[in-house]
Amino acid sequence: MAKSKLFEPFTLGPIELKNRIVMAPLTRSRATSEGDLLDRHVEYYRQRASAGLIITEATNISPEGRGYAWTPGIFSDAQVAGWRRVTDAVHEEGGKIVIQLWHVGRISHPDLQPGGALPVAPSAIKPKGQAFTEAGFKDNVTPRALEKDELPRVVADYVKATENAKAAGFDGVEVHSANGYLLDQFLSDHTNKRTDEYGGSVENRMRFPLEVVDAVVAAWSADRVGIRVSPLSAANDILDSNPEETFTAYTRELAKRGLMYLHAIEGATRGDRDPHHFKVWALKEEFGGVYMGNNGYDRNIAVNRVQNDVVDLVCFGRPFISNPDLVERMEIGAPLAPFDEKTFYGGDERGYLDYPKLSEDEKQKYADAA
Ligand SMILES: Cc1cc2nc3c(=O)[nH]c(=O)nc-3n(C[C@H](O)[C@H](O)[C@H](O)COP(=O)(O)O)c2cc1C
Repeated sequence: MAKSKLFEPFTLGPIELKNRIVMAPLTRSRATSEGDLLDRHVEYYRQRASAGLIITEATNISPEGRGYAWTPGIFSDAQVAGWRRVTDAVHEEGGKIVIQLWHVGRISHPDLQPGGALPVAPSAIKPKGQAFTEAGFKDNVTPRALEKDELPRVVADYVKATENAKAAGFDGVEVHSANGYLLDQFLSDHTNKRTDEYGGSVENRMRFPLEVVDAVVAAWSADRVGIRVSPLSAANDILDSNPEETFTAYTRELAKRGLMYLHAIEGATRGDRDPHHFKVWALKEEFGGVYMGNNGYDRNIAVNRVQNDVVDLVCFGRPFISNPDLVERMEIGAPLAPFDEKTFYGGDERGYLDYPKLSEDEKQKYADAA
């Protein structure tokens, strides 16, 4: 089998990647109630360190940013120490790892908020659906609209989280601006009905996300900061009325900042790759820097799109859950193990640490057949 560019090293700003395969951010809800990490996180990420780059599961920048039970944080000293063990393990295996910085905004619930407070959002608009609490799924509530003078506090939480990420030994951070969470809520005219300079026009709706990006860049450096967007994803009741206009304008602004990469979910997250006339990967050209594509990729799509420079990096989500050695399997054309959705979120080591890698004999068998 001819070697594809997909498996060759790639220089991502100051970071040398072993290959162009990226492990997607995957929430697994296996931290403590306080958002602290356990031994199993160290082992889970170590198992997957043959990825060129790992993006961690979405990680709460503050207690207010939390919206799902048992998700980890990066706001306390204990969490920094926990993540340090993870980054050390990944680096020992020759891998690279960035942390996804998360504030869920309105996709939370008083049960998950300090003092049982209401979740915060650009506007007081209740999302459809339910929140995942420790006591099970509960109906979403109407959030409280953030006051303008509170926004610097939220930005400061992103800055603190970035400083903590640096202290924890990460290679960089990914700003989570996708999937209907806080930054996406500011961008979308469906969730942002503000009448101040943070709402209304596209320019105004981009203001807060860009303030966050600028502050995170100032706290580290542009070539250590990636960003994730999902222009066509309706996840968490978000869809903008004109994603092409909004996300083209947003990408043009992001391009000016010289970020580490633009990571785009092409289509509906975990759904149709191509549900719209707007081809999300056209943002690569607007961005001008490293472009990472995600959503429903398989080996063939990945090889073709990298070969044809449609994408620079390919990000795989679900396949990494059940194939810790995804890179090795893809390289020799071995079959992938199926994932079990029942163990995606919460629970113990089952469905988390027990997906096996191929044995040496199996590897040889598939390599010989290739
Ligand atoms: C169990 C699970 C957890 C996820 N958690 C996150 C997350 O924490 N942050 C995020 O941006 N996307 C998250 N996603 C979306 C994935 O990163 C990815 O976009 C999606 O699975 C599509 O890629 P795939 O087809 O390769 O799986 C999650 C998806 C799954 C299946």
